[in-house]
Amino acid sequence: ITVLAVASEIHPLVKTGGLADVVGALPAALAGHDVAVTTLVPGYPAILAALGKPRRVGVIEDCFGGRAVLKRGEAAGLDLIALDAPHLYDRPGNPYAGPDGRDWPDNARRYAALAYAAAGVAQGLVANVRPDILHAHDWQAALAPAYLHYAGGARPRTVVTVHNLAFQGQYPRSMLEELRLPPRAFAMDGVEYYGMIGFLKSGLHFSDRITTVSPRYAAEIRTAEAGMGLEGLLAGRADVLSGIVNGLDDREWNPETDPRIPATYTVKTLGQRARNRTAIEQRFGLGRGEGPLMSVVSRLTWQKGMDLLVEALPHLVASGARLALLGSGDRDIEAAFRAAAERFPGRIGVVIGYDEALSHGLFAGADMTLVPSRFEPCGLTQLYGLRYGCVPVVARVGGLSDTIVDANDAALTLKAATGVQFQPVSRAMLEDAISRAVALFRDRPLWQSIQRRGMGLDLSWTSRAGAYAALYREMLR
Ligand code: ADP
Ligand code: GLC
Repeated sequence: ITVLAVASEIHPLVKTGGLADVVGALPAALAGHDVAVTTLVPGYPAILAALGKPRRVGVIEDCFGGRAVLKRGEAAGLDLIALDAPHLYDRPGNPYAGPDGRDWPDNARRYAALAYAAAGVAQGLVANVRPDILHAHDWQAALAPAYLHYAGGARPRTVVTVHNLAFQGQYPRSMLEELRLPPRAFAMDGVEYYGMIGFLKSGLHFSDRITTVSPRYAAEIRTAEAGMGLEGLLAGRADVLSGIVNGLDDREWNPETDPRIPATYTVKTLGQRARNRTAIEQRFGLGRGEGPLMSVVSRLTWQKGMDLLVEALPHLVASGARLALLGSGDRDIEAAFRAAAERFPGRIGVVIGYDEALSHGLFAGADMTLVPSRFEPCGLTQLYGLRYGCVPVVARVGGLSDTIVDANDAALTLKAATGVQFQPVSRAMLEDAISRAVALFRDRPLWQSIQRRGMGLDLSWTSRAGAYAALYREMLR
């Protein structure tokens, strides 16, 4: 089976979040299932640099305001086609936003171009690339099935994966022509969404299949509470909607071999984690303590419940815990964590920024990782926590619900517990979860059994990619 994946970021070349991790890890894992993936990505500077001397495999003369060249090559073991369109992608920094933190004003065109090129490749624009399946990830790629629909003619089967329904890509109707959509597309059974052009909506409407990144989220998004206005459409397509839980890339995330952490360890040498913990204490300016060292690696946003964590910090400190937080995001939340670090010196340490290596160190040395998300399609950091013996304390939503077993009495008796969960997602329940985690931590043998259980789970894409392979096969039947 051949797949053309389409995405706006891909680890290890360009990453702002879990989307990149998934898009970067799936191809190698799928290779083991006889699925060959080529990934189409925007030709950002980092992508073109990584490709070195790629082959020119196609040209789009008028690609939304300029010429685009399709360049194919390999980087980091990935088979990539970059859409080299300097007028759209030759910009510094973050894929989506300028140095001032604001979205690029022409994002509609930038990602329509990506989807347009994807539709072109799907219909034979590039010699020797004739995918059986077009797999579009998130709103940035989601117009592809719409372009295929309006182009007519032979096309591959299509699937759209929703990594986060909160980002939908909505733009004014006046852009219809500029985005190369026919007038008749502006309709309910087209690209129209509440009077706007909806990129994600289009993908959800026109794709043959829809997946999201956990079964629980697949169910949640069919309800008004989590559907973000798309619940009606999603409920109507329930027969083609499914959830496949993300895996983790065990080439990157393995405490036995991880070159980014001070001391490697196994399930039998948990004592080695003490060295990693010391490294965290030094880096985050934390004192020593009897209580647990909690950690956070996260975007600092409302979705992630980071404002609730700010409110819970006095409780966290009073319960004897310490916190090391690595993150960036909303300016207000960043400022609140900085202020908390000043208010509780030695107890709360904060690094504002994005630092892949440091994130590995946190999972390798902290006792717990906190993930109090208001909603979470899947979440990857709790998986990293499990793998590294950094016990997840999470909200019971979406993929966090599907991947963690709460340490309640029943689960402890059954020896199934892997973390702590709380609901509803409120300050009070987060504080309660912190207290429960601190109490469990005091019982060392019990705590270590929870750590070891998480470390022993098979969370790798190697096994989980099979669900995507099965889906592709079913689509082609
Ligand atoms: P989301 O994609 O919604 O942000 P995920 O948990 O799926 O959430 O993925 C987040 C990814 O980004 C993980 O790989 C996580 O380790 C990483 N990450 C988030 N913030 C930072 C940061 N400040 N520094 C390093 N890595 C980070
Ligand atoms: C999104 C979601 C996150 C998920 C990631 C990868 O960023 O917010 O929950 O893990 O995509 O699928």
